[in-house]
Amino acid sequence: MKNIVAGNWKSNKLLHEAMELMNEVKSGLSDTLSTEVIIAPPAPYLSVMTGQAGETLQVASQQCSATGSGAFTGEFTSAMLASCNINWVIIGHSERRQGYGETNDAVRDKLYAALDSGLHVLLCCGESLEVRESGAHFDWVQNQLSHALEGLSNEAMDGVVVAYEPIWAIGTGKTASSQQAQEMHAFIRTWLTNRFDQATAQACRILYGGSCKPSNADELFAQPDVNGGLIGGASLKAADFLAIVAAAEKH
Ligand code: PGA
Repeated sequence: MKNIVAGNWKSNKLLHEAMELMNEVKSGLSDTLSTEVIIAPPAPYLSVMTGQAGETLQVASQQCSATGSGAFTGEFTSAMLASCNINWVIIGHSERRQGYGETNDAVRDKLYAALDSGLHVLLCCGESLEVRESGAHFDWVQNQLSHALEGLSNEAMDGVVVAYEPIWAIGTGKTASSQQAQEMHAFIRTWLTNRFDQATAQACRILYGGSCKPSNADELFAQPDVNGGLIGGASLKAADFLAIVAAAEKH
């Protein structure tokens, strides 16, 4: 199973800056990588970035709509992404759940729409500090995943990568310890085994996200159930992002 390192650029960089960053990342990647490297630039740049990406780099959208085409001003569909040769989409990021009212139902609908269009999904889950301090973090994550994956077949799980991103670690500089990450990832894998089957759970990549950086990536990726990372802030500097990819290559 290949590790994945995905850079979520969020709402950062103007086009010329994004192109520069993309070129720096691309030129720092070897052709013989065993890690899958993905970048998720802002939506207006997706097509340009896909044209530039080449063989070693893949491009993801940071979201997509739950609907098909129609009178939905401002939205873009998963089929549109697929028609632009974009193969990945991030769904259920906590910033969209918290800031744009994406409910568990909306996350499930978007996931189904994306898989129907043949996209691969990076499905985000993770608890707030309040939930963690109350001790309900496992229940919380289980509830998010069971909603998002409701009714999904084992075969369809081939298109899904899970990203565990504790909200208290996102953009805060406060990373989950490698033990905390492993504990939750193992919990998710066991849950996937019970919900689907062992082969499906073993084949599913589970990424960690939340203040992952060159100084902690190695320890996080060394955990048996951590199969790479979803990287925010550190993906905006090519050297840092490439150092995280190098850490993933070691495991
Ligand atoms: P961060 O963001 O690495 O800046 O904490 C991670 C994410 O939101 O995907």
